Amino acid sequence: MSTVPRKVIFDTDPGVDDAIALYFALAHPDIDVVGITTTFGNVSVAQAATNALYLTALVNRDIPVTRGVATPWVKPGEPPPDFIHGADGLGNLNSRRATSNQLDPRASAQFIVDTVRAQPGEITLVAVGPLGNLNLALKLDPELPKMVREVIIMGGTVVEPGNVSPVAEANIWNDPHAADAVFTAPWKLTMVGLDVTHRVVTDLALFKKIADHHRHIATDTLHHAVAFYATFYSGLHKHLALNPGCFAHDLLAFIYLVRPELFTLESGGIRVATDGMAQGQTMMNRRGFIDYPQAGWGRHLPMTDVCMQVDEPGCLALFEQTMLSDWMKI
Ligand code: BDR
Ligand code: CA
Repeated sequence: MSTVPRKVIFDTDPGVDDAIALYFALAHPDIDVVGITTTFGNVSVAQAATNALYLTALVNRDIPVTRGVATPWVKPGEPPPDFIHGADGLGNLNSRRATSNQLDPRASAQFIVDTVRAQPGEITLVAVGPLGNLNLALKLDPELPKMVREVIIMGGTVVEPGNVSPVAEANIWNDPHAADAVFTAPWKLTMVGLDVTHRVVTDLALFKKIADHHRHIATDTLHHAVAFYATFYSGLHKHLALNPGCFAHDLLAFIYLVRPELFTLESGGIRVATDGMAQGQTMMNRRGFIDYPQAGWGRHLPMTDVCMQVDEPGCLALFEQTMLSDWMKI
């Protein structure tokens, strides 16, 4: 069955799993990436933009790439996690091919506003880094939620332990004030967090299979980056030490976009703890029928659809089939 491809602005901080997600999106026939808006996070925003330009150039795609926020909205910035993604965000590549595609001069938030305003009701925002660009876009244009088709974020966690503290996930923790503004804006929002991303492991062997199949610099680059990233995860989780692989967090936001039936959802209002020991925690109201005396949890709070369970084999089969298709020859 063929569908009209979904127009997506991909807000990202590439980042190894961001690169996996980007190539899946470019490979999938139901996704049309109309812009890539970069942010600080896994690397500086300058490096994130460089990586987005590089990854798209390697597959001959000339998609607008913008540079966005360089720091969190309120809190001081955290050092980029070079031990997870490499100092260059792509597992410390040995060299890079010369490429010529250029940055779009607009700031990421302005690009989001311009693109959504030009095509009201059509654009989906898939955001897989700290949420500063979306926050700034909301400030630039408070009407944005009415015009965006839907927002899907990779970030946060409800039940699963965090990855930067016992309760916080990295993207939300990196800019908790921005994240709280995004969760409390009146748009259709889905959270793809650690509750599901920690249930889906992509093996390093699969990236080798993809690279061997295509024999192309793009998939070789991806395989190199994932090997670095998998080393980090092998040191952290026993099952990944035995069989090298990684959580491909950001990928799941796109899998949700094209195959939502692979996920089980729960709806509730979400607020973000902005400081203290719980900084970055995504707190979900799972008892919406109670009028809590604590301020900030009123019934007016917008609902977020939160992914709580996932069909791992279904996700892996879709990923493999999509990546082994002829997407680079299109
Ligand atoms: C998220 O943090 C980043 O390191 C990844 O790219 C992903 O977006 C996972 O917590
Ligand atoms: Ca990311």
